[in-house]
Amino acid sequence: MANETLPKWWKEATVYQIYPASFKDSNGDGLGDIPGISSKLDYIRDLGVNVIWICPFYKSPQYDMGYDIADYQDVHAPYGSKADVDALIAGTHARGMKIIFDLVVNHTSHEHAWFQESRRSRDSPKRDWYMWRPAKVVDGKRVPPNNWRSNFGGSVWEWDEPTQEYYLHYFAVQQPDLNWENPVVRKAVYATAVNYWLDKGVDGFRIDTVNMYSKFLDFPDAAVVDPSTPWQPADKYYSNGPRLHEFLKEMHRECFSKYDVVSIGECPNTPNFKDVLPFVSTQEKELDMVIQFDLASLDHGGGELRLWRRDWKLHLFKAITEDAQILAIPEHDAWCTTYLENHDQARSVSRFGSDAPQFRVQSAKMLATYLLTLSGTPIVYQGEELGMVNMPRSWDVEKEYKDLNTVDYMRELRRIAGDDKDMLEKGIYSAQMTARDHSRTPMQWDSSPNAGFTTAKQTWMRVNDSFTEINAAAQEQDGSSVLAFYRTLLKLRHTYKQLFIYGSFELSEPDNEDTMTFIKRHEEDNALVLLNFTKDDQPFVVPSRFKGRPELLISNLPTAQKHVLRPYEARIYINHDAKTMTNGV
Ligand code: GLC
Ligand code: CA
Repeated sequence: MANETLPKWWKEATVYQIYPASFKDSNGDGLGDIPGISSKLDYIRDLGVNVIWICPFYKSPQYDMGYDIADYQDVHAPYGSKADVDALIAGTHARGMKIIFDLVVNHTSHEHAWFQESRRSRDSPKRDWYMWRPAKVVDGKRVPPNNWRSNFGGSVWEWDEPTQEYYLHYFAVQQPDLNWENPVVRKAVYATAVNYWLDKGVDGFRIDTVNMYSKFLDFPDAAVVDPSTPWQPADKYYSNGPRLHEFLKEMHRECFSKYDVVSIGECPNTPNFKDVLPFVSTQEKELDMVIQFDLASLDHGGGELRLWRRDWKLHLFKAITEDAQILAIPEHDAWCTTYLENHDQARSVSRFGSDAPQFRVQSAKMLATYLLTLSGTPIVYQGEELGMVNMPRSWDVEKEYKDLNTVDYMRELRRIAGDDKDMLEKGIYSAQMTARDHSRTPMQWDSSPNAGFTTAKQTWMRVNDSFTEINAAAQEQDGSSVLAFYRTLLKLRHTYKQLFIYGSFELSEPDNEDTMTFIKRHEEDNALVLLNFTKDDQPFVVPSRFKGRPELLISNLPTAQKHVLRPYEARIYINHDAKTMTNGV
């Protein structure tokens, strides 16, 4: 075994992702906070995860829920103090867990001192810290340098009246993009945003939009797909610019290589295995693993609105899974992540399972079986372990949904749909299925008012009505709950880690649109995972490649039928004489 393929702590990690605004409110103001997170560390440890990832809690005007950072070393006051953050780090370590932060350095907030200085004048010493460009003049009119549409609507260029130039923002107007071409900027980022926290004992980062740092500096116009607006989708230009890998190697050298830490890069618009490998191959010395988007986009249609599609195909779900799993085989000397949810995604039960009362628990457990038997590092998002579901369809999208992305979406929808009622309805339905807001409702701790998330009457975002039925306290008491199932699966994942964490992945029946069957293999041992993704009974066969006599390890139903999987049933079999299921390496 090459040195690089030896197990590392982060390969055996399960990450639990926390959204500070919605996890737990400690001071009764209706907003989650850092002491709230600290108060729930035992719950997180008892789940059986060993790394927590905290979404941004830094000082921020909160246009994009903290992904617009005004000071990398300070804390958003309503979330707590620097001392609270130190206590959270210490409390996590005291329980034998690691803690990683969110690193958001493609852009800052427009309120960051660097940008304030940069926009002061064209002669500012920090002018070149952001991407400033002169206007183009077309038919005597001032227009931005190109036609790219920002991720949150409108042009990616914002006109700055006092200095008569445009600045670039891939996301909101309040999120100006840093100029990574400037080596002084890169140094400042490493020192203030990265190494500052690593020196304090933080165990690494989830790295926001990591493949957007290097820009295509000629800023070519994107193809016109919607002639009714000047702003065209330009996804392929946002990501993977010419100097990206050079920048990532430098960041690795200057930051991560000096500590025993993990780097998990968010990597949109990069669907091909051969383009992913350079980010995560140990030899390239860039990142440890990346978060890809292909599965998360599977049920989004094309077109400007990317409407939800009910008819997403399981064979694609499997192919995408297989593509990521290949990263983790020893020959590639790389690693991958697996996730179904995060703060940018709607709830997986509602999208890939079923939130109908008779199937909700069953399908949440089925998806958990998928998530926790794959190789690589799984990421569990808060509430996923309870089988939390999307917000009810009776809620008014324009009133209850808070995300700026949804606000932009509804504006676009109304513009595109006009009087077309059918289109409007489809668009609203799509938001009800896929909006980022669904994952951002407060965590459902118990059945008391506001789900035990806060003592306040008003919460920053409405609590999902489902809390009386779906909550942690009730599931703690119930051995057949989704929570109990997660705990058991996480134990099994570690007991049989050679199979589940490191084992090879072999897909059976890749074209079957109803069930997913795969084998995890390590030397003479193997596990068989059977998942029914439908609300009907489905036949199954044990693949001939399975070695030994299959013994049921766990299932999400009390009894198992011989050749049939019940609706959303999940089973894991191992060979009964399996040997390598110890903590040994
Ligand atoms: C990432 C974050 C998302 C944020 C965006 C801009 O995609 O996950 O929440 O809006 O970057 O920082
Ligand atoms: Ca609070």
